[in-house]
Amino acid sequence: MPAIIVVGGQWGDEGKGRVVDLLARKSHIVARYSAGNNAGHTVVNELGEFRLHLVPAGIFYGDKECIIGNGVVIDPAVLLQEIGELEERGVSVERLHISDRCHIIMPYHLLIDRLDEELRGKAAIGTTGRGVGPAFADKVGRLGIRMGDLIDPDAFRQRLSFILPYKNAVLQKLYGAEPLSFEDVSSTYAGYGPQLSPFVTDTAALVQDALDRGETVLLEGAQGALLDLDAGTYEYVTSSVPSSLAGGATVGMGIGPVHVSKVVGVYKAYQTRVGNGPMPTELVDKMGDALRERGWEYGATTGRPRRCGWFDAVAARYSARLNGLTSVAFTRLDVLDGFPSLSICTAYRLGESTIRTFPASSVALARCQPVYEELPGWQKDTRQIRAFEELPPQAKAYVERIQELIGCPIDLVSVGPERDQAIIVNPVF
Ligand code: IMP
Ligand code: MG
Repeated sequence: MPAIIVVGGQWGDEGKGRVVDLLARKSHIVARYSAGNNAGHTVVNELGEFRLHLVPAGIFYGDKECIIGNGVVIDPAVLLQEIGELEERGVSVERLHISDRCHIIMPYHLLIDRLDEELRGKAAIGTTGRGVGPAFADKVGRLGIRMGDLIDPDAFRQRLSFILPYKNAVLQKLYGAEPLSFEDVSSTYAGYGPQLSPFVTDTAALVQDALDRGETVLLEGAQGALLDLDAGTYEYVTSSVPSSLAGGATVGMGIGPVHVSKVVGVYKAYQTRVGNGPMPTELVDKMGDALRERGWEYGATTGRPRRCGWFDAVAARYSARLNGLTSVAFTRLDVLDGFPSLSICTAYRLGESTIRTFPASSVALARCQPVYEELPGWQKDTRQIRAFEELPPQAKAYVERIQELIGCPIDLVSVGPERDQAIIVNPVF
């Protein structure tokens, strides 16, 4: 079997971790290919609830190779803490592999992330503050330090002695901040190298060998299409290079696109967003609060309350097209249990016209008014249902209407956070 990509179809937090956990059962390798510890996956299994920021969700199976691919940026302190926590709770990390090409988040990235947001003032992006954006900016600006440098003390000192004065000049002259000490940074990071080096390898070669043996590789995206640097609501987007879109998966893993056979888009049954930027279906009322409380919509990384609203089918169809989806996994249907009626946004009103396309400009998107279609809700608990036919007729109608609007089959519906709280409509692979 070839490579299968799992991506977010909205603004992140669609439940990719949960879907990957489910699909990992039939896979040999589970790999992350972009972003960093701005991402947060919640996985619930027999060992309890876990929040993963860097380690792929396949780690719980024990027999899957788990890979952090070259497209991911790594904060070594965060990764080591995550590894430590997993081990403490009885999860082996023996099968974790990290690409030697991953870029490293440095202390100045964390500082600049915060200082930049301050400088932007009202135009702040609302980043997760983890240094991810500045680390990707340095990757593109050719000022990055990579995992291969971190585990080689001489290479690391050489890189840092060139880059730190440059960064200190930016900190002092642009932001009026204090410079960082070379000795402090280099001694802290020198401690990380030997701890991470057993995990570091040429992961692209490892994945290629697995593909050549006919094994199944699950490529796990982070965030969602609407946060993508190119496709998303620029400039209120994340900065991953390569993109979190399906198109970025093979670049972020170091394999050819010919290996990909399926792309699974994960969508939540309603809409959420963390951070700033336009969100046409946002509900700043009791209904929005009810969604947030019922769905416990608080960021897995920052704990920020998520903005909640009705399902946006215009955006959903757009992201399905950009990702070339072959399947949809539809999550958190149970959160809608009990609402008397539900709305789906099927078009936007923009000035005098009605549009069904997603505007490129965030300014234009902010002007868009949602056009809603109203559907009756179901006042029944769906959490114990395991077959699509057994869903209340209104729930089936809601799922089927969204499937039609996205234009891609919904093959999986989740009705709770536990591994078995899923309805397999059609096997994804
Ligand atoms: P950054 O990725 O920290 O630079 O943040 C840029 C934007 O992406 C902000 O709106 C964040 O809230 C959002 N963002 C980044 N990662 C995630 C995620 O994993 N889930 C949801 N939103 C995210
Ligand atoms: Mg998340």
